[in-house]
Amino acid sequence: MTKVKGIILAGGDGTRLKPMTDLISKQLLPVYNKPMIFYPLSVLIQANIKEILIITKPGEVENFKRIIGDGKKWGIRIDYLSQSKPKGIADALIIADDWLKNSRSLLILGDNLFFGPNLKNLLIKVLKVKDRSTIFAYRVSDPERYGVVSFDKGMNVKSIIEKPKRTKSDWAVTGLYSYDKNAPSIAKNLKPSKRGELEITDLNKEYLKRNKLDLELLGEGFAWLDTGTPDSLLEASNFVKILETRQGILIGDPSKK
Ligand code: DAU
Repeated sequence: MTKVKGIILAGGDGTRLKPMTDLISKQLLPVYNKPMIFYPLSVLIQANIKEILIITKPGEVENFKRIIGDGKKWGIRIDYLSQSKPKGIADALIIADDWLKNSRSLLILGDNLFFGPNLKNLLIKVLKVKDRSTIFAYRVSDPERYGVVSFDKGMNVKSIIEKPKRTKSDWAVTGLYSYDKNAPSIAKNLKPSKRGELEITDLNKEYLKRNKLDLELLGEGFAWLDTGTPDSLLEASNFVKILETRQGILIGDPSKK
């Protein structure tokens, strides 16, 4: 198996969580009993990834390092880079290009919380496929807030539309993406969208055009939580608390393989 490296995109201004985010990055705020970034970090660790790049906003690297460190205590290596401006999620692959050194990548957003008893096995299965890319979708009641994927019975992706006014499906594309080694070069050729960002949806559409995009549904038993607003942050904290205290399931623990 060729090497897969992990990328956590943890920049952005955290506007909807101001004034907390005036002092500290959103991804370092607590979700119940851990910093938010521990959740995506532990997803990458469960996928057996040993080298991880954390991309922060400028001036924040030291804060992240103080909390997370170099990864040695978890048997991995963690590097840090910063993103000069929030130019779009696909910009993460351009920033990571030299660091990736032609490796494949598993990209995850630093504020996305995934839970599912089969997540580890699913990721290990997906990462066995070398020369294709995969998106992961979750059924939501408000698809117009997300990238939305439509697909046929054979799980072939038909379309991906970023924040559509009218939706063809209620499956949102989550902030977890498995890419082959070509992602940085494709990202470099993307044009900024109307909102001035290099859209991850445009990158995924390029893979779809090349017939190289797979889809995995995070169905029954999975949870995908957003943590970007005070309400969703509180709900995520309550979710983790219930799992940990009532069911004894530990989530977001980077020492758990
Ligand atoms: O959450 C999944 C959704 O993420 C997908 O369904 C959409 O297709 C995708 O475009 C994205 O939606 P948003 O546009 O709402 O994402 P947002 O701008 O909130 O950014 C997501 C996270 O990534 C956020 O924690 C900040 C970070 N980020 C974002 C951008 C644009 C960065 O660190 N740098 C950036 O340049």
